[in-house]
Amino acid sequence: MKTFLVTGGAGFIGSNYVRYMLNKHKDVRMVNLDKLTYAGNLDNLKDLKNNSRYKFIKGDICNEVLVNEIMPEVDVVVNFAAESHVDRSIGAPADFIKTDVFGTFVLLEAARRNNIERFIQISTDEVYGSIENGAFTETDPMMPSSPYSASKAGADRLAYSYFVTYDLPVQITRCSNNFGPYHYPEKLIPLFVTNAIEDKPLPIYGDGKNVRDWIYVEDHCEAIDFISSHGKLGEVYNIGGDNEKTNLEITEYILKKLEKPKSLMTFVKDRLGHDRRYALDCSKLHKLGWKPKFDFDEALDKTIKWYIENRWWWEKLKSGEYLEYYKKQYNLNP
Ligand code: NAD
Ligand code: DAU
Repeated sequence: MKTFLVTGGAGFIGSNYVRYMLNKHKDVRMVNLDKLTYAGNLDNLKDLKNNSRYKFIKGDICNEVLVNEIMPEVDVVVNFAAESHVDRSIGAPADFIKTDVFGTFVLLEAARRNNIERFIQISTDEVYGSIENGAFTETDPMMPSSPYSASKAGADRLAYSYFVTYDLPVQITRCSNNFGPYHYPEKLIPLFVTNAIEDKPLPIYGDGKNVRDWIYVEDHCEAIDFISSHGKLGEVYNIGGDNEKTNLEITEYILKKLEKPKSLMTFVKDRLGHDRRYALDCSKLHKLGWKPKFDFDEALDKTIKWYIENRWWWEKLKSGEYLEYYKKQYNLNP
């Protein structure tokens, strides 16, 4: 039995990854260390509560004492824990630096003292910054442009430095925009789907022509699993969905699927420093033998259906603190 320490496992991708791994491998134990910030939600893992191969620990990756206590039982670390929302990083960057950079440092230090088998740092395509034409390869320079992506770039390179300096068996993944179930409804797709369901305005930043490459979350989970067993140590792997879409295309798709009027589209002030386009060259991972399986339209339909059927999950998240933030930010009255 191999023990995985999944940090941030109560968040969107982390919870999908924990479930994916427990279903796929019968010889793994998943220990989920999560601080339960506004984005961490034990509802995401409700179905696993009684699984004997799953353990939840509420705690902060910046807590050295706690991390040092946990690490001796760990074989593989998968570090998802992060402050992850670009807009929040513009308003209040401090927690991004603390968790994304210092927290990763605490994990790396504990990992190197405990001879762990693998340390997978979940980085992001945002570390490269924006690209007008073409696509970024893993050796392109990083030009992060938000406090979020800059803190992720710091963690990404810190993890690499532990490979070079201390021989820590590190791997780094840089994935594009995920979508799927349990995605916190402040991000584009879950926000727009849930707003449309409720006949609320969909706040499109700027002209809506910014481009993101979208990947279904299960494909991302599978790619991480594949890289941890087939990838080389010390390497970076881009993970993309090969589905470039403008925000307007995404918005129109959602409205059409839900049979809602285009009048819900509301153009609001642009995000500060808004990256125009992200695009990844994933040939390195394709050559290694992995490609995404999910068709974009089918996966988005499946995701929309999940939000229709799981109002219990998102309705409570769209009240209180979140609603206040949302109103202040966009001067809207949702
Ligand atoms: P999320 O915000 O949904 O989840 C983050 C989780 O980390 C939450 O459960 C939160 O409680 C936890 N957390 C935050 N600070 C913590 C701390 N100090 N200690 C312990 N736990 C803490 O984020 P997500 O969208 O699931 O992203 C997960 C990871 O994947 C992040 O590292 C993000 O940078 C990366 N990533 C995300 C995407 C995407 O499209 N969502 C794409 C590429 C990479
Ligand atoms: O590319 C990977 C990254 O994708 C991850 O590293 C981040 O953690 C994740 O949050 C995501 O960042 P983005 O900024 O690309 O995602 P977001 O859903 O916030 O925005 C997607 C696009 O939609 C972006 O161009 C901004 C726009 N947008 C977003 C929101 C929330 C809107 O137009 N209106 C909105 O209300």
